[in-house]
Amino acid sequence: MSFDLVFFGGTGDLTWRKLMPALFQALRHGKLPEGGRILAVARDERSDDEYRRFVRDRFVEVESSKRPSDEEFERFARLLHYRRMDLSRPEHYEGLKAWIDERSADTVVLYLATSPYLFPVICEQLGAAGLNGPQVRVVLEKPLGHDLDSALQINRVVRSAFREEQAFRIDHYLGKPAVQNLMALRFGNALFEPLWRRESIANIQITLAESLGVGTRGDYYDKTGALRDMIQNHALQLLTMIAMEPPSTSDADAIRDEKLKVLRSLKPFTAETVLRDVVRGQYKAGNVQGDPVKGYLEEVKVPPGSTCETFVALRTEVQNWRWAGVPFYLRTGKRLPGRDAQIVVNFRAVPHPIFPGSHRANKLVIKLQPEDGLELHLLAAKGNLSHGGAAELLSPVKLDLDFDKAFPTERVGAYERLLLDAIAGRLNLFVRSDEQEQAWRWVMPILQAWERDPNGPRPYTAGSWGPPAASAMVARDGCTWDEEQ
Ligand code: BG6
Repeated sequence: MSFDLVFFGGTGDLTWRKLMPALFQALRHGKLPEGGRILAVARDERSDDEYRRFVRDRFVEVESSKRPSDEEFERFARLLHYRRMDLSRPEHYEGLKAWIDERSADTVVLYLATSPYLFPVICEQLGAAGLNGPQVRVVLEKPLGHDLDSALQINRVVRSAFREEQAFRIDHYLGKPAVQNLMALRFGNALFEPLWRRESIANIQITLAESLGVGTRGDYYDKTGALRDMIQNHALQLLTMIAMEPPSTSDADAIRDEKLKVLRSLKPFTAETVLRDVVRGQYKAGNVQGDPVKGYLEEVKVPPGSTCETFVALRTEVQNWRWAGVPFYLRTGKRLPGRDAQIVVNFRAVPHPIFPGSHRANKLVIKLQPEDGLELHLLAAKGNLSHGGAAELLSPVKLDLDFDKAFPTERVGAYERLLLDAIAGRLNLFVRSDEQEQAWRWVMPILQAWERDPNGPRPYTAGSWGPPAASAMVARDGCTWDEEQ
């Protein structure tokens, strides 16, 4: 199957940091269909060869096992092309169309890896130039809007040029292998389904922790903050995967219909509940993994006195029969103790303990990173239970599944998977416009309440698990965050 893959924002960070390395891996793994052309589009003048050198030079920043040898890069470079475009000029889109029409590739993927402020103009121009035929797919990178209104506006423009099934909205967390494993766990095995409900589950915790700070992205980040950057998209998408009903088929829309229902069932926030159930924080100087690090306000390009949040913890509920009353805790932050993303399903404790120590409940941990795995925590007999008495007789143990070891050759990175899916036209792991809009609708009361709240984010020391208020919030339900257990 021949394809043309066009990157708008072809010299930007996302393209050389994530997309080019992912495509190279796809080529190395023999997964990239033959007969492809990759075209980078950006503002400045350069030749194909200059662009190839630009990409090659940037591969030094990629982890060494994922860097191409000279010979491999040669092969990859043959696919790469470059084109200068001023994104506001119609004749430049006509030039692009002529380049694409030189051969009729089976699939044309137009990847908007630019600032979202450019999405409307690009989509309008693509439509006007006729670059929206049935073989065309448009891939939209997050952030898709800044709030509900801007998201609606972007979607209106996208819809005016493309049909919904041509729009591939990326949330790279959906491309992570753990999400595949979560789907397989829930819908490929009957074991957990009877337990996957309020009667058996006490609470669910989704933690997306990063040890890094905002680095050089201070200007972008300061306009965004952790709620828009991580919760509105990545954390909510994971929540839908955990909470959704089994879809009737594995088709994209069957899955996305069920995810949308979860988003619609989320308990809405009010100005009062935001203050009680949402904690925002901002890191100050501290130590992360033994190294001293700056506070957020000292980072480059961060405006003095910024009240941008770098941490959010919140409590919500999914208001339906399956989940009524079960707290879902979501938490994300920069400069936390480690790069650690996981979903913890805490089961209820035994109803009547007959062994000392058996009040400790089972939990299932779905690990997204740094490892990709599954742990089932149980209690086992360490001593002779009939002797009773000592709490140590029952000891926590875990069944531990490491997917990297289980399938050593099959591991595919998130962007690699999503790019290949976009080329193949598989929409399952992409976000539909109604899901995305509903997610914005749900976060809006939080943004609005924060605008009115003079207190700003709570400070936390870099290297800690965020402001103590995040622990206090779950303690009100008699819970602790997983790392405190
Ligand atoms: C991006 C955010 O979407 O996800 C970044 O914009 C964040 O701020 C990144 O660092 C985290 O992704 P990952 O895959 O490294 O966990």
